[in-house]
Amino acid sequence: MVIESRSRIVKHLVNRLRDTSVDAAVFRGLLRECARMLLVEAVDTLPVAEKRIDTWQGGFTGEFIDEGNIVCVAILRAALPMQEGVMAALDGVEGGFLAMKRDEESFKSRLYYDRIPDIEDKTVILVDPMVATGGSLHDALTLLRQRAPARIVSLNVIGAKEGVERIERAFPDVDVHIAQIDPKLNKDAYIVPGLGDAGDRAYNTV
Ligand code: PRP
Ligand code: URA
Repeated sequence: MVIESRSRIVKHLVNRLRDTSVDAAVFRGLLRECARMLLVEAVDTLPVAEKRIDTWQGGFTGEFIDEGNIVCVAILRAALPMQEGVMAALDGVEGGFLAMKRDEESFKSRLYYDRIPDIEDKTVILVDPMVATGGSLHDALTLLRQRAPARIVSLNVIGAKEGVERIERAFPDVDVHIAQIDPKLNKDAYIVPGLGDAGDRAYNTV
């Protein structure tokens, strides 16, 4: 299921990201914040567990997010700040990486490297700011699903309508929390209006 954010602060962050005067450091900070906000929206899909801790008043049993059963997977490069945002809020989750690059002629993504801990029966939070054709997210979800996670939650910043619909059709059981769905792709398969190339903008390689 695709859930587009209705939060005014999330929309504000998306529109700040669109602004070409935003430099790389600020751009990464905005992606980080956006991921944290989307995490709040997705929190009900995360596992919880009771845990006993020591406090200054003695023992205390409370409900915690079950961080030991969550893995946050980033699709390189542009998702790195989003993963930082998630892992700052949930410091006990494991991190995983998928190095993917979209070929800018065929628009197909290519996997160069994956480094993902065991996700069997765990919840995966997959992060990637952009869903353009949906090819990268589709390939990432296909790969993850083969490793038998209990559930996959995807956090994304901007998606093109057609890419998002493609993901919804192929993975109806994955909760896709997305900040903004934009209307279309241009002939180069960039999202319009979108924000340009997220990886380049985040890492000063424009
Ligand atoms: C971007 C983006 C997505 C992908 C989306 O990454 O971060 O992963 O493109 O496009 P798609 O939906 O058509 O597959 P890119 O491959 O450009 O790599 P980068 O983050 O290193 O710039
Ligand atoms: N990748 C991006 O970073 N931006 C787009 O609009 C499409 C793919």
